[in-house]
Amino acid sequence: MDDTPYQRPAVLDAILTDAERLGFTMSCEDRTGSLLATLAASKPGGHVLELGTGVGAGAAWLLSGMSQDARLTTVEVAPDTQAVARRHLGHDPRVQFVTADADEWLTDYDGPPFDLAYVDCRPGKFRRLDELVAHLTRGALYAVDDLLPQATWPCDHEPRVDSFLKLFPEQPNLLATPLAWASGLVIAARL
Ligand SMILES: C[S@@+](CC[C@H](N)C(=O)[O-])C[C@H]1O[C@@H](n2cnc3c(N)ncnc32)[C@H](O)[C@@H]1O
Repeated sequence: MDDTPYQRPAVLDAILTDAERLGFTMSCEDRTGSLLATLAASKPGGHVLELGTGVGAGAAWLLSGMSQDARLTTVEVAPDTQAVARRHLGHDPRVQFVTADADEWLTDYDGPPFDLAYVDCRPGKFRRLDELVAHLTRGALYAVDDLLPQATWPCDHEPRVDSFLKLFPEQPNLLATPLAWASGLVIAARL
């Protein structure tokens, strides 16, 4: 089975060229992006959240699957990094860029809940998972990646990932599936 994605957002190559120029190596891989697009397409009119915009690769995939009346909120702490995403995707009226620390954003957010959350930084993943889940609708999907060992991991990261993966069977409000595929994912539904 060839699991190369069937489709790819047109803007992605330009984003990844800028990422290379900046030395940004943390964009999601294409298979993960394709899955994100599929999950986004399953929530027509939905409110989608990404924590950790990076340079916008994940956002480009999410937008490529979203319906015209769906909305994406994407949060990033580093303005220079997020500026690349704003440049490539900012013309799309469906996306709202938030420049903020996701720890603080999770505490302060009091807007409508989300139907899909792609969490790609530590807040909402390795910490504050309960706060993230509290911002999800019933039936919302939660997606995280980079759970298989990555060359970019600091040496103290593997125990953090191991502890995170052990949380899910005990999590009363999430029904989760671990996927040892692509960079290693967990996909969960909010009960
Ligand atoms: C793995 S990269 C994101 C890649 C992007 N989601 C994609 O799929 O292409 C993680 C990003 O999270 C950002 N980040 C790290 N800590 C953060 C925090 N506390 N709040 C918001 N963003 C954070 C980093 O600056 C980095 O750009």
